[in-house]
Amino acid sequence: MQSNGTGAYKSSEKFAAFGPKLRGSVPGPKARAVVEADHKWMSPSYTRSYPMVAKRGRGVRIEDVDGNEFLDLAAGIAVCSTGHCHPQVVKAIQDQAAELIHISGTDFYYESMILLAERLSGIAPMPGPHKFYYGNSGAEAVECALKLARYHTGRQNVIAFFGGFHGRTMGALSLTASKPQQRRRFGPMLPGVTHVRYPYAYRGCSGGPQDEEAFALGCARYIEEKLFKTVLPPEEVAAIFIEPIQGEGGYVVAPAIFMQELRRICDRHGILLVADEVQSGAGRTGKWWAIEHTGVEPDIVCIAKGIASGMPLGICMTRAEIMDWKPGSHASTYGGNPVAIAAALATLDILENHGMANAAKVGENMMKRLKEWPEKYAIVGEVRGRGLMIGIEIVQDRATRQPATEWRNQIETLAYERGLLVLGCGETSVRLSPPLILKQEEADIALDILEECISLVEHQQVPALAAAHA
Ligand SMILES: Cc1ncc(COP(=O)(O)O)c(C=O)c1O
Repeated sequence: MQSNGTGAYKSSEKFAAFGPKLRGSVPGPKARAVVEADHKWMSPSYTRSYPMVAKRGRGVRIEDVDGNEFLDLAAGIAVCSTGHCHPQVVKAIQDQAAELIHISGTDFYYESMILLAERLSGIAPMPGPHKFYYGNSGAEAVECALKLARYHTGRQNVIAFFGGFHGRTMGALSLTASKPQQRRRFGPMLPGVTHVRYPYAYRGCSGGPQDEEAFALGCARYIEEKLFKTVLPPEEVAAIFIEPIQGEGGYVVAPAIFMQELRRICDRHGILLVADEVQSGAGRTGKWWAIEHTGVEPDIVCIAKGIASGMPLGICMTRAEIMDWKPGSHASTYGGNPVAIAAALATLDILENHGMANAAKVGENMMKRLKEWPEKYAIVGEVRGRGLMIGIEIVQDRATRQPATEWRNQIETLAYERGLLVLGCGETSVRLSPPLILKQEEADIALDILEECISLVEHQQVPALAAAHA
């Protein structure tokens, strides 16, 4: 039984077998107490959307402190690629923890650093030889790429994109241009960063009818035809940083032609092309790296999140000749910690055997159903993505495409109340970034719940439109 937004799916056998299991209304009493204590102790800079207090996780399920079981299509912000506590990952972590927890690859050697480099080299989106740097987070992978690009080229400037998110340390933050609050009162930023338009066709074309490819080409050519001819001498540009699919910016996919044009510009002017695959990489899109969908080879790749199933690991992978800096130029005490590397090696095994192909298959099936929603629901503007990286843009009005941030937030909360965990992204999109081991049945139920939430918000907020679409 498929949902039409009415909630009828809840009586199905599939729901009983694969759906969430709530013991009452959420949040329960224990969750409320934790949230209250959290307010007392924790930094108010965190951006929790709803009061889900996790206790344990298995596969795509999270149990909260009150014993409610949720379907998790957020995966710890696209991190738990193999699901929560995959037995192979848990065993790899436990075995490694019993053997050697830390020694610091900055000052000593250990074999697993090399093993992981060899594995990643075998699946890199550009030809080898390669070299690797290990840090602890996405931001650290980006910091490494930024410093290295300057060091290798001897050039100071870089180009990044509006809507881009590359992390919150000062260097990475200087590239980030996603939300003003992320930068407010932290300036001045690193000098030498110029932001240009990302080919967000759904928004970019809203001023009038414009072909998506023409718009994307226009965005890329602006760099050469405007920036380089006016304020930014190309021989002073070290790198272009791009998310092949913007994550925090709204799960926006850059068309292949845009990426190809960026590559051409980089080649022509000796600029490095840096693919930030922190969110889009590690199999999430059904290929190892999202950039592979475009046929473009980057010079540097930033990797984190899904690569180690939740252990902290950030990786900067480059063509070998680029990583030419001298000892002491860059390092990290914990980067490439043996336990994190063990988790990454187990993660690669799981994704290679099943996860990546599953992401492609289940993602495609989900997309087939989701692509009907802009026709079916007045508040769904666009659905986009690749594999299990899917964004649903919520709008007040499909004709004007006016963002509907509040409605998007309501959808997230309603989903939580029904046992489904999803996060927002961009100004007004819902993101689906589940574990890559998501079963078809779980995906179906997640979409049933989400559809019910969208339908509810539509009926509350725009009853006339909803009636017209009924
Ligand atoms: C594309 C991208 N780059 C970098 C980062 C920063 O990663 P971290 O939060 O691990 O520092 C993120 C985090 O969301 C990201 O999505």
